[in-house]
Amino acid sequence: MSKNKGYFITFEGPDGSGKSTHIKLVYEALTALNLSCILTREPGGTELGERIRNILKDTALNKTLSIQTEALLLQTARAQHIHEIINPALKEGKIVLCDRFADSSTAYQGIAHGLGKEIIEYLNKISTSGLKPDITIVLDIAPEEGLKRAEKRSRNEPKDRWEEQKSDFHYKVRYAFLELAKAEPERFRVVPVRGTVAETQKQIYNIVKNALGLL
Ligand code: TYD
Repeated sequence: MSKNKGYFITFEGPDGSGKSTHIKLVYEALTALNLSCILTREPGGTELGERIRNILKDTALNKTLSIQTEALLLQTARAQHIHEIINPALKEGKIVLCDRFADSSTAYQGIAHGLGKEIIEYLNKISTSGLKPDITIVLDIAPEEGLKRAEKRSRNEPKDRWEEQKSDFHYKVRYAFLELAKAEPERFRVVPVRGTVAETQKQIYNIVKNALGLL
């Protein structure tokens, strides 16, 4: 449990793992129980964060961005997100559900892009002011499977900066999340994405209920 009154849950995983679908279902289930809960995402969550998200997703502009620029923009968005949304909500005792957080920076920029795990972890410490999620759910999926799903979802849209990466990059991302989970088993819960959305959601919701003491 963090030192706040609220409870902080992050969802992580490779592209196309279904995080956004599952986090929304958890949000709806908790809200239906009358629990005070917010759903937010990274990059994004604030006005500044959403503008940074648009920069990073702008397929023409982002070709000019270095990995270092990308890493620092993500950290800038995160610092504002913590300041404006996450910390105030936790202080008010809310459950915060966040679609990607600092572990995405460690996995994508630190490990898969090779900027260095320790460097990104250090930057994460600055942007988060040391705040860590109470639990982090990693949806684990084979990259080919995840990318197929992501492609189906956005067939008519141009691929973003991350979806364009070759498959060995996505393998690195997958194993980076598994490595992070292994190093901190008390915080991470790895859920393999198999079967139907309902089956995976059941596992996720059980983890969440357990963590919140609702079981
Ligand atoms: P998004 O469309 O939100 O991803 P998803 O489809 O997985 O929900 O795009 C976010 C992309 O940003 C995703 O490919 C991972 C990347 N990302 C990083 O590389 N580092 C980070 O710190 C964060 C928060 C995201």
